[in-house]
Amino acid sequence: VAETGIDAWLRYAPLTGSSVVHSALPNNVVVLNSSQGSPVYTAGQELHNGIKSIFDKSTRVCYSKETKSALVVGTVAEYEKVYGALQNVPELAPDGFWLDTTGFNIQIVGQDERGALYGAFEYLSMLAQGNFTKVAYATNPAGNIRWVNQWDNMDGSIERGYGGASIFFANGTVVSDLTRAAQYARLLASVRINAVVINNVNANSTTLSAENIQGVSRIADVMRPYGVQVGLSLDFASPTEGVQNPVVHNLTTYDPLDESVVQWWTNITDNIYSIIPDFAGYLVKADSEGQAGPLVYNRTLAQGANLFAKTLEPYGGTLMYRAFVYNLLNESNWTEDRAKAAVDFFQPLDGQFMDNTVIQIKYGPIDFQVREPTSPLFASLRETNAAIELEVAQEYLGQQCHLVYLPPLWKTVLDFDLQVDNESSVVRNIISGQRFNRPLGGSAAVVNTMLTNNVRLGSNLAMSNLYAYGRLAWDATQEPEPVLQDWIRLTFGLHPRILSTITQMSMESWPAYLNYSGNLGIQTLTDILYTHFGPNPASQELNGYGQWTRADSLSVGMDRTCSNGTCYSGQYPPKVYEMYESIETTPDDLILWFHHVNWTHVLHSGKTVIQHFYDSHYSGAATAQTFVTQLASLSGLIDSERYNEMMYRQLYQAGHSIVWRDSVNDYYYNMTLIPDDHGRVGHH
Ligand code: GCU
Repeated sequence: VAETGIDAWLRYAPLTGSSVVHSALPNNVVVLNSSQGSPVYTAGQELHNGIKSIFDKSTRVCYSKETKSALVVGTVAEYEKVYGALQNVPELAPDGFWLDTTGFNIQIVGQDERGALYGAFEYLSMLAQGNFTKVAYATNPAGNIRWVNQWDNMDGSIERGYGGASIFFANGTVVSDLTRAAQYARLLASVRINAVVINNVNANSTTLSAENIQGVSRIADVMRPYGVQVGLSLDFASPTEGVQNPVVHNLTTYDPLDESVVQWWTNITDNIYSIIPDFAGYLVKADSEGQAGPLVYNRTLAQGANLFAKTLEPYGGTLMYRAFVYNLLNESNWTEDRAKAAVDFFQPLDGQFMDNTVIQIKYGPIDFQVREPTSPLFASLRETNAAIELEVAQEYLGQQCHLVYLPPLWKTVLDFDLQVDNESSVVRNIISGQRFNRPLGGSAAVVNTMLTNNVRLGSNLAMSNLYAYGRLAWDATQEPEPVLQDWIRLTFGLHPRILSTITQMSMESWPAYLNYSGNLGIQTLTDILYTHFGPNPASQELNGYGQWTRADSLSVGMDRTCSNGTCYSGQYPPKVYEMYESIETTPDDLILWFHHVNWTHVLHSGKTVIQHFYDSHYSGAATAQTFVTQLASLSGLIDSERYNEMMYRQLYQAGHSIVWRDSVNDYYYNMTLIPDDHGRVGHH
């Protein structure tokens, strides 16, 4: 029980009351790679342990050909060497696999070792869910970038971390006990994440010291058996910061075009690859929120990016360069707009980035808000690789104290059709590389996994977001609900009431949070100055962050039209531009994002804006109250450790949703003095 939360969806809990006959399970696990630490070897161990744990059946693990009652796991190449040519297997891409349970023996065959491990996890996921259907299919990833970004600091704290300390760092160095890091890699591999950037995007140059690179190499060692590669965030100014590494000496410039700077980064990259040959690459946040960057030297962002990309190229390493670049703005200027920054900075540079570079783009143009339109930058880069950046850490979204199942939010962007050149240009097909025929692409998600309370992310229910992130990074055509249900069965077992209840709570959770926080596209009304938690509508205004609502006694919303506003709408391709430019065709749920309207403006729904605010804040908070009673109906069906942790959070959310409801409603009532049709607001 102690490790219940740590193992998350890989518990392999015993299947009770099932109609499984042991004889239907294989007796032999044939592992086509006997070297310990290889992903195929790991796959063999997982299969053996999983089948033992789920069914209490001991399989024999063997490393040579076995033809009777065999479950064979390996790469295509090894399989064909031992068993002969595979029949009827569709083409596999890197990391893809073939799973066939229809034959006399079971085949789990990966295009590469990682693919074989993914196939093993897939088969185990079926077994753990009591699914014994006969299947034969191949699956390939939608994108080769399926990364997570930890925002862990070298001192062990975590930026926007809500559940405890780092599993990687403490006191400026890499921790000695990396057990948790290995367990984490196992979880990531099971949902086909292939790399982790282990340190904060607000990076610290001390990560590059000789001692710390040795530490990073130890992390890479414990993750390698799971096919998870390690990458690092870089501080652009590192050459001037006295990095303690004999391969470099301190410089007085970090100008990306200066020869000594180029040499500095070449030495660092060469050094890293000499120690970690399968190092994934770099993540760079430059010229953003106080971070150093090429603009300091009047160099372009592309020149800054290419500095790193060139050093990585000989090793096949990838550079993830973040599009999150913006300047502070002046609210008194009606046409200033932070939402325009990414396109303004990056679109003119399209085609100037190297092919091993991927521009990492937050899903919306501002910053992980509860609802944003799709970032128009996805439509603007045709000769540059792109990846979407999501945030599993619920920074503006309740910080894991509120249940908010995020995939329905992510899907509003992943499934959005930008109609570039009037052709279907769905975001998921852009980031996969397919739409613009790009070699690299995919997803990254900010995840703050920690140490405490036997629960990663500090919350059992929040883990569905990490699970679903991996699943969608592989195949974003999947729907949020079935993915969630796999997670529920793997995490809490097969009881139908658990399944229906947690499904309902989770699927209602984002709409509820949206309703009691910021709706109609006003983005979030969370405090943006200090905590990023709890209501603070006033904090959006009178500062340079550009997350303005422009609310006053008569009207509200950002005018982002070209006819009268910031012309953000003009950053979209024509069809999408036309939809958002006109108030008639802008969907209600983004009306305040694109238009400045009177509080009495009547929505397509027939309600006024202010009445919609009042009503939705009541209905959102009412839904959050039901999460407590819904969860209470599971008392006795879930172990008390996890039940109590979840109930503690649902009670908190129920109360806090009322705080949200009343603060936001009172704030706008006091501003507008427009009465609530139902007489609820303004009377306490
Ligand atoms: C948000 C977040 C910061 C983070 C930044 C980023 O603004 O609050 O903590 O550094 O995003 O994504 O770089």
